[in-house]
Amino acid sequence: MLIFKTQEDLKSHLQTLISNHKTIGFVPTMGALHDGHLSLIQKSMSENDATVMSIFINPTQFNNSADLNNYPRTLESDVDKMKRISEDIIVFAPSVENIYQGNTISQSFDYDGLEFEMEGKHRPGHFNGVGTIVKRLFEIVQPNNAYFGEKDFQQLQIVKKMVEKSQMNVTVIGQPIFREPSGLAMSSRNERLSAEDRVIAAFIYQTLQEARIQFGTKNATEVTKWVENEFHNNVHFKLEYFEIADESTLKSITEKEPNKKYRAFIAVFMNEIRLIDTISLN
Ligand code: PAF
Repeated sequence: MLIFKTQEDLKSHLQTLISNHKTIGFVPTMGALHDGHLSLIQKSMSENDATVMSIFINPTQFNNSADLNNYPRTLESDVDKMKRISEDIIVFAPSVENIYQGNTISQSFDYDGLEFEMEGKHRPGHFNGVGTIVKRLFEIVQPNNAYFGEKDFQQLQIVKKMVEKSQMNVTVIGQPIFREPSGLAMSSRNERLSAEDRVIAAFIYQTLQEARIQFGTKNATEVTKWVENEFHNNVHFKLEYFEIADESTLKSITEKEPNKKYRAFIAVFMNEIRLIDTISLN
């Protein structure tokens, strides 16, 4: 398996593939790989001649230094997991210095308002950091297709917007959320939950499923109040937000309109660990 630590080495390897008109699929990650990441890799391998996976914990997208410091760093076991899928995956695991060249700051992006909703409100600067790193990685890897999980649905929409506005020649492909048997959405942050907490955390998805049922007969305000109350009465969680939003604008709604797609979004803390999830409502 080829593991590149610098953008210069990766670029010169990819140049040969690009000049031979090979298609490149790209899966950007921050490591601590789980089955959701591995499914993105498999999808990329089935649709492209070569697949690059990056493992880079991007400092500019963390608005909380404790979250950055505690983020799991598991390169060795990540590489082992990839080897079990295929030795042909090209791994890119650069240093912060190699990516940011001594200037570890974000560029500013205008995502037509998508950045002001939900995660954007609660994690100031987060989406400028995401845009900065994803744009830089796309420039280095020059993928034909790039794969992202729908758990970070807002991020997926933001990356699509960034690609559209910067006129990059990349197709951004979203893939369904992978869940543990309990229903808990797979996330690198789950590594920080105890086995017992993982069982309790299944409550998040159970509540989302019940919210979807309620949304069939109730309006968004009523469903939101019910969810807020469920979390208020559960000592294990601190709810940061629950919103029902239009899937394309990500703006929160109160009343349903015909022919629109809606989604519920949630962010909760469990013992200082921030978990997010989302469910399509129609
Ligand atoms: O979703 C993630 O893991 C990160 O936000 C990403 C897309 C790899 C950018 O650092």
